[in-house]
Amino acid sequence: MRAHLTKKIAAAAMLLASTSVAHAGDVEVLHWWTSGGEAAALNVLKQDLQGQGIGWTDMPVAGGGGEAAMTTLRARVTAGDPPTAVQMLGFDILDWAEQGALANLNDVAAKEGWDAVVPAALQGFAKSGGNWISAPVNVHSTNWVWANKSILDSLGISEPKSWEEFEAAMAKVKAAGKTPLAHGGQAWQEATMFDGVVLSTGGADFYKKAFVELDSAALGSATMVKAFERMATLRANVDENFSGRDWNLASAMVINGDAAFQIMGDWAKGEFLNAGKEPNKDFLCFRVPGSAGTVSFNSDQFAMFGVKDAGAMADQGAMAAAIMSPSFQSAFNVVKGSVPARTDVPNDAFDACGKKGMAELAAASDSGTLVGSMAHGHANRAAVKNAIYDVVTAHFNGEYDAKTAAEELVSAVEGAM
Ligand code: BGC
Repeated sequence: MRAHLTKKIAAAAMLLASTSVAHAGDVEVLHWWTSGGEAAALNVLKQDLQGQGIGWTDMPVAGGGGEAAMTTLRARVTAGDPPTAVQMLGFDILDWAEQGALANLNDVAAKEGWDAVVPAALQGFAKSGGNWISAPVNVHSTNWVWANKSILDSLGISEPKSWEEFEAAMAKVKAAGKTPLAHGGQAWQEATMFDGVVLSTGGADFYKKAFVELDSAALGSATMVKAFERMATLRANVDENFSGRDWNLASAMVINGDAAFQIMGDWAKGEFLNAGKEPNKDFLCFRVPGSAGTVSFNSDQFAMFGVKDAGAMADQGAMAAAIMSPSFQSAFNVVKGSVPARTDVPNDAFDACGKKGMAELAAASDSGTLVGSMAHGHANRAAVKNAIYDVVTAHFNGEYDAKTAAEELVSAVEGAM
């Protein structure tokens, strides 16, 4: 009786504790899903967990691509106070696992049969030393263009199939006095465009040689120079206020008819849907012209930081199981703009862009043209990624011409390896 009372008092005291501090039965989730579309998707996850009695303490850190979130994470871990669950990408997950910071999810993975349903490309980032260390919530891809259909229709522009057609389409939009390309001048956004431009210019094998194998000859090649020239063409098609703009505000320019195109990962679709827009009616989705048949992917995964409390561990396991349930994967990814991280989820609930994304992901995986996104941490470690960011963004802002940029790329990558 006494023990029971003490327990009750302790529970009440915990409830009284500051709301920003996770209490028993809560998971504190660090993430960078702060735009309108992202928040809508996050709500699907929150509600799913709350339905299972798992509370949610929100730890949002704004900033696409997650660089700011990763800085916050490092500070929290250094202070000995890691969040329970963290949104993470690619090589960052493997880095934390190698440092021994992540919880082992083998029990839940075995119970729920993850090995059989998670594609190998994703397992490469969700397992370390043979152990499951994160739960993949989606597969995004970066080589997409989002287009305002009514601008294209009014100018008689059909979907560009090659890079040359894309340039011609942008020239037409410009001549009509509109902004061809909506862009936010932040290094990660330029790098995101570079994923698609490099795929379009050199194809999947070249992309792998340059960004995965870090082959100096590929990094400094004439093909890379051409990719930088294409980036300069993109730079000539953005509006003058692009600098520092958030990606979702660039999406809003296309949504509102202020710009014709945006090159961005399929999280942009979440913004269109959140604004009540429909694919093929209000907007078009197609691969960066010249890159059809290839897919540069990134997968948001939730890694759990090691905790000692048995209750907290149980909540982490429950969260991981919830994330991987087929019905959740469908409901969440329909809203997020991504596609499921398991191969057995039907495409029925997905819109035309989602169905296309799922089919193209499967086809690219079969034909060996599925590559990890350099911009979103799936081609190489953060140090290399950041070195590439620096060169791409400096070139985009006019610091180097295309030839110098390719040379700088070689030395920046060598310095970061
Ligand atoms: C993440 C997406 C997110 C996007 C913009 C990407 O790195 O994978 O989930 O929507 O950044 O914030």
